[in-house]
Amino acid sequence: METRVTKAVFPVAGLGTRFLPATKASPKEMLPVVDKPLIQYAVEEAMAAGITEMIFVTGRSKRAIEDHFDKAYELEAELEAKNKKALLDVVRSIKPANVECFYVRQPEALGLGHAVLCAQKLVGNEPFAIILADDLLDGDPPVMKQMVDLYNHYNCSVLGVEEIAPEQSRSYGVIDGREWDERVIKMSGIVEKPAPEDAPSNLGVVGRYILTPRIFEHIRELKPGAGGEYQLTDAIQHLLAHEQVLGYRYNGVRYDCGSKLGYLKATVEFALKHAEVGADFRAYLQARQ
Ligand code: G1P
Repeated sequence: METRVTKAVFPVAGLGTRFLPATKASPKEMLPVVDKPLIQYAVEEAMAAGITEMIFVTGRSKRAIEDHFDKAYELEAELEAKNKKALLDVVRSIKPANVECFYVRQPEALGLGHAVLCAQKLVGNEPFAIILADDLLDGDPPVMKQMVDLYNHYNCSVLGVEEIAPEQSRSYGVIDGREWDERVIKMSGIVEKPAPEDAPSNLGVVGRYILTPRIFEHIRELKPGAGGEYQLTDAIQHLLAHEQVLGYRYNGVRYDCGSKLGYLKATVEFALKHAEVGADFRAYLQARQ
């Protein structure tokens, strides 16, 4: 079994009903934050972690993802002819030559567990990352790199977690466990979207996972949960009976771009840090207060 993490799964087939219904024809992962779509940030985070095989689980009306990472012959030829070197570099950096993209379609939106199962043949018998691109994480080093380092140290599954307010528990997988090392929690359980009074802790899972391939066995055995969906969280709970799983309180800031407010915050913060527009944008915000 390959023990390095070289593959990442990007489930983009979900309905995304929490955000703008007006974006239903194109996945929410194609929404740009300043000048890049969310999915591009996610892929760059994976690349920074040494991951080179990107596996997208897409679905109906989600083909914009394929187009984004495809080679844009016409555009490149035009930019070359017009000698627009800087733009050409941007276009070419979207998918560097050492990165491979694979696509698998999820016929029905049956939940995160089912989406991940659709990628099983492409993942094979290897540990792999899962990145939910609507959770935009700003970390230095990038959060998936932090998690791969942890995986390489402990050789077991790792979930990215952050502290949540009790009233938010119904939006997250919430973990149970005990502090083990700095930022590391040895998990003893996980519950999907519990009521605040049933939440085992204040640590919610964000959209970053590194899982061993044994997870597929447990996804296969799942019964559909709430809404007919197959929950990845339930499979992780079963995995815990066989293998160690760690929660990792990553170093970084999360923007929940599946919500309007989170998306707006990400836009403001990334704009303020942007090399080209940051200073002007800061001046603009100061002037309007
Ligand atoms: C999914 C997972 C949940 C996790 C969350 C992170 O929920 O099921 O366990 O905490 O992503 O964003 P969703 O947001 O798709 O409802």
